[in-house]
Amino acid sequence: MKGIILAGGSGTRLSPSTDSMNKHLLPVFDKPMIYYPLSVLMLAGLKEIMIISTSEDTPRFKKLLGDGKELGITLAYREQTEPKGIPEALTIAEDFIEDDNVTLMLGDNIFYGQGFTTTLRNAIKNHRHATIFGYRVKDPHRFGVVEFDHHKKVLSLEEKPDDPKSDFAVTGLYIYDHRAVQIAKKLQPSARGELEITDLNKEYLKWNHLDVELLGRGFAWMDAGTQQSLFEASEFVKTTQQRQGFKIACLEEIAFYMNYISKEALYEKGKSMEKNDYGQYLIEIAERKHSEQYWDSIDHHPMLGVVEND
Ligand code: TTP
Repeated sequence: MKGIILAGGSGTRLSPSTDSMNKHLLPVFDKPMIYYPLSVLMLAGLKEIMIISTSEDTPRFKKLLGDGKELGITLAYREQTEPKGIPEALTIAEDFIEDDNVTLMLGDNIFYGQGFTTTLRNAIKNHRHATIFGYRVKDPHRFGVVEFDHHKKVLSLEEKPDDPKSDFAVTGLYIYDHRAVQIAKKLQPSARGELEITDLNKEYLKWNHLDVELLGRGFAWMDAGTQQSLFEASEFVKTTQQRQGFKIACLEEIAFYMNYISKEALYEKGKSMEKNDYGQYLIEIAERKHSEQYWDSIDHHPMLGVVEND
């Protein structure tokens, strides 16, 4: 399974903050936005991840995250010259995906909640053709909406419907088999001139090859694409972290806990940035007395809830 994070787009809703800065590099409280989707793909167990951004911004992501070696993963980069739509990521990454399956994630989506890693890993393990993740919202008309029956069989998908058939929004996390590339190539731009991910998902639906996983009410899904939602996401991260003493989406911590990097490497990384809170946290994790109790087994990490072994 390959991973792709889409971090291009125009970010017009966050202007002027995004006039000279890529949206996904803006901070969500104490770390850049891209850390959040990257943490999701790492927790899913993906080790080959491609970040797709604009020609101008791709070097900035490379500067921030490098080749991934420090995190024990492989990061590749590709440019999307114009924001022609989310499915274009699949054609841009064709030679990266090859005949593999792929998990595609939008760079401005934040997922957090107990059991999420389990849900995601199970979705990857049981994946048939295409899987989307539904989340109940109070304003479904603003989103892609998925309707399903009581066996979770997907009945319809609609993009920003006036009269939504369900309250479940389609989130920015998608799992596809390798056919997605060929399907994406055949899509036609919508009225707003973009290739639409809903159209791609509808192709899978036509064949009854689209599955939906539901994210429960104890779960937070946010897209940080507007001033309001970016601020709310920052507040959420700040409050949760302060309360629990665990950081959300701390990439080095995840790499350590996944056994990708050693305790020494974690400590050294912390030391290199010890003047700030993030660096101090890494040191604290590396020095924490009862860390084995938490990290010996992926099953019992307090930040993540229970994770089933594959
Ligand atoms: P959107 O929020 O739909 O668009 P945007 O990021 O360009 O922002 P705005 O609407 O304010 O102009 O994009 C969702 C995510 O997908 C976001 O993380 C950016 C990414 N994206 C791309 O990388 N390339 C694209 O062509 C599009 C449409 C989106």
